[in-house]
Amino acid sequence: MTPPLRLLLVVGSVRDGRRGPAVADWVRRRLAGRDGIELDVVDLLDLDLPASADGSGDTEAWRDRVAAADAFVVVTPEYNHGYPGPLKTAIDAVTDGWHGKTVAFVSYGGTAGGARAVEQLRPVFAELHAHTVREQVLLPHVWELLDADGVLDAPRAEGAVTAMLDQVVWWGTALRSARAVGAPV
Ligand SMILES: Cc1cc2nc3c(=O)[nH]c(=O)nc-3n(C[C@H](O)[C@H](O)[C@H](O)COP(=O)(O)O)c2cc1C
Repeated sequence: MTPPLRLLLVVGSVRDGRRGPAVADWVRRRLAGRDGIELDVVDLLDLDLPASADGSGDTEAWRDRVAAADAFVVVTPEYNHGYPGPLKTAIDAVTDGWHGKTVAFVSYGGTAGGARAVEQLRPVFAELHAHTVREQVLLPHVWELLDADGVLDAPRAEGAVTAMLDQVVWWGTALRSARAVGAPV
C-alpha cells in the first residue's frame, strides 16, 4: 500500500492578534476530507528559533519536522510587501530538509491578498532546491472573511484551494518517488 503523503502546514505569522491561525485552520479543514495525507502543523509562534541557527532552542526539532515531510503548505501574511521575518528565519534554519520537495502557499493581507509575499518566497525556495506549485491561494481583505468567532470562511477561494492542494499532492507524490531513486542533484 502507498504510504500517506506527509504534509507539513506552516503558520508563518507570530504577531499578537494575528489572523494566521484562522487561515491555517481553514486550510486544515479542507485537508480533512482528503485520503492519503498525514498532516503535521507547525505554528512558528510555538518554536524558539534563534536567528543564529546554531542548533540551539527548537532548531533541531524544527529541522526534524521538515526532514520528515514530503510536501509543505506555507501560510503567510504580507507585511510591507514582504513576508514575515520569523518565517525567513525558520526557512534559513533548514537546508537539506527542503531539497527535492514541493511547497505551496496560502497568503492573505489587504488588496493584494499577500501576492507580493509569495512572489518573494518562490525564489527563496528555488535556492533551497524546492519546487513551488503554480496554484496559490490569495485571501484579500482577510479581516472580512472572519466571523465573530474568528472562524474563516472564503467561498470565493474554494476553487483555488482545491487546485493548490491537488497540485501539492501530485508534486509531493512525484518528488517522493524521485527522492527514493536518488538524492536531488
Ligand atoms: C506591519 C504590517 C504591515 C502590513 N503590510 C501590508 C502590505 O504591505 N500589504 C497588505 O496587503 N497587507 C499588509 N498588512 C495587512 C496584513 O497582511 C494583515 O493585517 C494580516 O492579517 C497580517 O497577518 P497576521 O494577522 O497573521 O499577522 C500589514 C499589516 C501589518 C501589521
